[in-house]
Amino acid sequence: MKILVVGGGGREHAIIMKLAESPKVEKLYCTPGNGGISRYAECFGVKATDIDGVVALAKQLAVDMVVVAPDDPLVLGMVDALNAEGFMTFGPNKAAAIIEGSKVFSKELMKKYNIPTAGYEVFDDPNKAIEYIKAQNSYPTVVKADGLALGKGVVIAQDEAEAVDAVKSIMEDKMFGESGSRIVIEEFLTGPEVSVLSFTDGNVVIPMISSMDHKRAYDNDEGLNTGGMGTVAPNPYYTEDVAKECMEKIFLPTINAMKAENRTFKGCLYFGLMITPKGPKVIEYNCRFGDPETQVVLPLLDGDLCEIFEAIYNGKLADVKFSWKKEFCTCVVMASGGYPKKYPTGLEMSGMDDKGQVDGAFVYHAGTKYADGKFYTAGGRVLGVTATGATLPEALEKSYKAVDKISFENAHFRKDIGKRAMAAIK
Ligand code: AMP
Ligand code: GLY
Repeated sequence: MKILVVGGGGREHAIIMKLAESPKVEKLYCTPGNGGISRYAECFGVKATDIDGVVALAKQLAVDMVVVAPDDPLVLGMVDALNAEGFMTFGPNKAAAIIEGSKVFSKELMKKYNIPTAGYEVFDDPNKAIEYIKAQNSYPTVVKADGLALGKGVVIAQDEAEAVDAVKSIMEDKMFGESGSRIVIEEFLTGPEVSVLSFTDGNVVIPMISSMDHKRAYDNDEGLNTGGMGTVAPNPYYTEDVAKECMEKIFLPTINAMKAENRTFKGCLYFGLMITPKGPKVIEYNCRFGDPETQVVLPLLDGDLCEIFEAIYNGKLADVKFSWKKEFCTCVVMASGGYPKKYPTGLEMSGMDDKGQVDGAFVYHAGTKYADGKFYTAGGRVLGVTATGATLPEALEKSYKAVDKISFENAHFRKDIGKRAMAAIK
């Protein structure tokens, strides 16, 4: 099969490396891709959100399948456009991608089908939202923009001033654009967070190995929220009991709810969960593979990713056999100094090889460019330095050893990836 992957980050690099292992795959293409991906898949200049451009490219390359990895083209309906032209795809259609595209939709779905989540109210008028905040007077409180906001549309407000500020900047100053014409104000939950990516064809749902993201920019979970500064898999908080409860109360009900709403979900459904004192609850759904969760999940997959994608498209996921390696995988993100705020690009990188010169490690590229035999930084998150090991400390040691071999000016990475997970194991 010839496969085109849409996207250009570490997640797409991880998907491509796993697809490359499949005996079914003959040729891999990626758009826009990045410096690291370009060494394994031919890359093109079409943007991930350019639906007409991607359809034209798929025709030109006469591919057999298109994998749409990022949220925005999924929410815009890229899969529908590709299917209309007869292409096999991986990813949900527009009707199903709304589960991530609108927080109001996802909260109403959970309420209607009794899926555990934080209590909430929806507002389309900033004055009413502010009145509600003042009347409720309970902190912290959580203010979320309805639409996509690069993972940054969530404010945890510690007091009234912060909550009112969040409402004003989201709804009046439109800091996340039209995403913020409606907001959700929700109850603050506590407990460890778990990411569970799942494969689903709309009939069956098969959770992948669990993982733990590290969303804040700095050590000890300080600083701004980012797209994710590192991940470990599996997540020690996701015990067998928790997994069983999640399947019964969250995963299956969600898949069935989407089907009942005529929004059958096919692809990777990502459950962002919090294990609260009252049991697991949904913090958010994503309609796609997580980044950098994918970088620690797919290396542990014992199975043929291409076969899984095909089976999902054909509604035959139940027929595919795969399992998860009994190992640990860790990913430390190296970011540009300044990320998630302003940062420079175009900095020359050194120490770059696939394994970061460490056995058992692999360097997924997130924001790099390759030119004249050299790599240059080209984004906020630059690399995901990943390693597997028989134990969590072993994997972490390899990831950090490889990080030490790589350098670019002002590189920023967290030094405590996996620390929370280690504390849970002890
Ligand atoms: P999201 O973009 O929805 O994943 O939210 C970003 C982060 O905000 C989550 O990973 C949580 O750490 C935090 N968060 C979101 N909603 C809540 C909530 N209701 N209670 C506590 N923390 C939350
Ligand atoms: N790492 C979180 C996400 O992909 O949304």
